[in-house]
Amino acid sequence: MYYPEELVEEVRSKNDIVDVVSGYVRLQKKGSSHWGLCPFHNEKTPSFSVSAGKQIYHCFGCGAGGDVFGFLMNYESLTFPEAMKVLAERAGVALPEPQEGEEGRRGDKKRARLLEVNKEAARFFYYQLRDPRGEIGYQYLKKRELSDETMHRFGLGYAGKSGANLVQYLREKGFEDEVIKEAGLASYSEKHGLMSQFWNRVMFPIQDRNHRVIGFGGRVMGEGEPKYLNSPETPVFDKRRNLYGLNFARTARTGNMILCEGYMDVIAMHQAGFTQAVASLGTAFTAEQAKLLQRYTENVLLAYDSDGAGIKAALRSIGILREAGLTGKVINMKPYKDPDEFMKALGREAFEERIRQAENSFFFELRVMEGQFDMEDPEAKTRFHREIAKKLCGFSEAVERENYLQAVADKYFIAAGDLRRLVENYAARTGLAKPVERPKTSVKKRDPEENVKRGQRLLLTWISDEPALYGIVKKYVSSQDFTEELYRLVAEKLFGDLDEGKYNPAGIIGMFEEEEERRLVSEIFNTNLPKLETKQEREKAFHDVLLLVKKNSYEYAASHMGSDVNALAQVIEGKKALEELAKTHISLE
Ligand code: CTP
Ligand code: MN
Repeated sequence: MYYPEELVEEVRSKNDIVDVVSGYVRLQKKGSSHWGLCPFHNEKTPSFSVSAGKQIYHCFGCGAGGDVFGFLMNYESLTFPEAMKVLAERAGVALPEPQEGEEGRRGDKKRARLLEVNKEAARFFYYQLRDPRGEIGYQYLKKRELSDETMHRFGLGYAGKSGANLVQYLREKGFEDEVIKEAGLASYSEKHGLMSQFWNRVMFPIQDRNHRVIGFGGRVMGEGEPKYLNSPETPVFDKRRNLYGLNFARTARTGNMILCEGYMDVIAMHQAGFTQAVASLGTAFTAEQAKLLQRYTENVLLAYDSDGAGIKAALRSIGILREAGLTGKVINMKPYKDPDEFMKALGREAFEERIRQAENSFFFELRVMEGQFDMEDPEAKTRFHREIAKKLCGFSEAVERENYLQAVADKYFIAAGDLRRLVENYAARTGLAKPVERPKTSVKKRDPEENVKRGQRLLLTWISDEPALYGIVKKYVSSQDFTEELYRLVAEKLFGDLDEGKYNPAGIIGMFEEEEERRLVSEIFNTNLPKLETKQEREKAFHDVLLLVKKNSYEYAASHMGSDVNALAQVIEGKKALEELAKTHISLE
């Protein structure tokens, strides 16, 4: 169902975001914003802010952010139309009845249909499991020590022996064969017609973080190949960008996430109270999934199988986590094979102890590496030490490298000075990292690109805080000066609105359909402004930001102009404007 923009705006304007959020989060007014503990991640001091002026929320801790619709969608796991309904009702706005056939863009409609058919299939499997004909599936799960409550919570089901039933059921519910097929629930053969993909398997519905069923995993009972059969990728099932269990784990607020290999592991962990457990979807852990985890925590604990394959998978995932800037630790599952078996044998408290003892991922890597060298042989041992040095060069930050160097030296009884020399040698030879220096300061240098982005963000935040400044800004900077595409889109809309005397940051966020985009836009409107006491300071800072944005725009244009004559003219123009701005005093009265 698509609502006209005016109606969305009406509902938005009649639901003050501070009022709505106050129904869920305790807020306190401080300065121009209201502050509270972020409901989307675990924290002890408030970094969640709600702005009455801008009608948006933003968390400085986890980056969550959006307008009033987005808040409800996230908090209550609603779709946009559902959030619209709730808020319309709250404000007493009547919504038109949905009209068949004419709504929305085709892609969205198809996705909605696929989600519906998945939901209906999950319901079918769910009842099969609880039916006498599904007894075998139910007994299987019981034998694996899942409680009725757990089976219910994860919506577990059973696909019967006769594959036609599901298809028949879905057709009766009004789903076209095309949809059933595209959802990966059934496939067509000349001989049997449309037949269910899954039969005689216990079924694990895979939900996205908003509890919508996007696919299925089905496990054979007992032996059989393949052990797990998973839905194929579909327009709603992106295996790289979802995690099993995240719909619950996202609100676990334990300060960490536990990454497992299998669905059964996740379920066993949740049943034991570790509701922060998630798993990838029958494929290897991806960088996109790491990004997803990063929204909730910095600390990821790996609870992988203790066999060779599990160790290999852990090493791979550690690399991916590290690239995403997450701290990985490895939980030792021995002598058990996986978290499921561990939990059954030793239970919750023993696992908690294992969490406390989880090994730093770097030491885990070294330990695995150590196993490949014969430590009795001085030659092999030396090679091991060189390998350590090489790995240490992977830390580009001197402080971190030195800290690890010290720790490793202690652990493996190597004189720190000797190890440092090995690192210096290696670095000098390969030029990978600068020779290790004794750290003096731990101040991180900002990446220049991030600096420019920050400047662009800052300017947009500033204008959205004080729309009156736009009159000055527009003399020097236009939306075309924003080189980040998303920022440019926002600037175009914000400036366009202001030109018409309108001001609606929440509406701008609402233009973006993807949650990730809405987060980024809320960040644009919530960059921390520098603390400025005096008028001079303010004017100087404002001038600097304008100049930074303009300068970057000019440099960007200059480096991208190629041989186009018009582009050259523009660049020359840009240079003039820049020089002009550089010497202009900007007064903020
Ligand atoms: N997997 C898969 N296809 C297979 C085997 C495994 O997609 N043929 C995926 C599933 O997502 C499974 C995960 O890999 O959950 C882990 O596999 P494995 O360790 O073999 O399964 P367990 O979770 O231990 O399953 P069980 O305890 O039911 O044997
Ligand atoms: Mn298992």
